[in-house]
Amino acid sequence: MAAAAALQLRGVRKYFGSVSALEDVRLDAYAGEVHAIVGDNGAGKSTTIKIVTGIHRADEGEVLVNGGIAVVYQDLALVECLDIAHNMALGNLPRRFGIVLDRRRMEREAAEVLRDLKVRVGNVRTPVGLLSGGQRQVVAVARAVRMDKPIMLLDEPTAALGVQETAHVGDIIDELRAAGKAVIIVSHDLDFVFAHADRVTVLRLGRTVGTRTVADTGREEIVGMITGAIKGEL
Ligand SMILES: Nc1ncnc2c1ncn2[C@@H]1O[C@H](COP(=O)(O)OP(=O)(O)OP(=O)(O)O)[C@@H](O)[C@H]1O
Ligand SMILES: [Mg+2]
Repeated sequence: MAAAAALQLRGVRKYFGSVSALEDVRLDAYAGEVHAIVGDNGAGKSTTIKIVTGIHRADEGEVLVNGGIAVVYQDLALVECLDIAHNMALGNLPRRFGIVLDRRRMEREAAEVLRDLKVRVGNVRTPVGLLSGGQRQVVAVARAVRMDKPIMLLDEPTAALGVQETAHVGDIIDELRAAGKAVIIVSHDLDFVFAHADRVTVLRLGRTVGTRTVADTGREEIVGMITGAIKGEL
């Protein structure tokens, strides 16, 4: 018996003016699994993520989302002039008397989340604009984890990270899976994908080529699907 998908895409199409970004994207992602979306530059991965979160509207097809979503976009939506604590609380700011921003609580909660995730970015009052690309990325991941939603979308969460930070984000992803989240990651790093994903969906030129369980595939097949050397099942 198959469990209901946390996220289901069927025949998703998206045009930007006359540019066809997505032609036929299909995907089923499940709770308690890490689902990687891979594909060449421009294959439609980020557009797919933005359709799931509602930034873009699909022109055709079905998008079924079963639960709340936390997301880290590739073009990290952090506010540079605000500090780490404030960025982590965006969208859910703690208030006193329902009005005044509760800065102490905001800073305490941010520090707690960062400590739990073993993220070291110094003082939570540091403006995000002063952080390195890698530090920003880790803050963005921590922010999404803090939201504690059943579905987590991470678009290139390790792109700007060094070896140690990448391993750290890998650990966080493994913990999210263990906590029963449906985790969707977009990544160009196939080593990372094979180390942390349960399933891989390959996009090519705006279409889903296919989905494989990591246990039943290998680098060669996935690379073949990415480049078009191996054709899809449709
Ligand atoms: N806002 C937009 N307006 C116009 N075209 C867009 C827009 N966003 C994406 N596109 C186009 O849609 C296609 C898919 O882009 P997308 O960003 O989804 O690719 P991607 O798979 O995430 O690539 P990358 O690996 O480089 O991040 C590309 O041809 C891109 O130029
Ligand atoms: Mg992208």
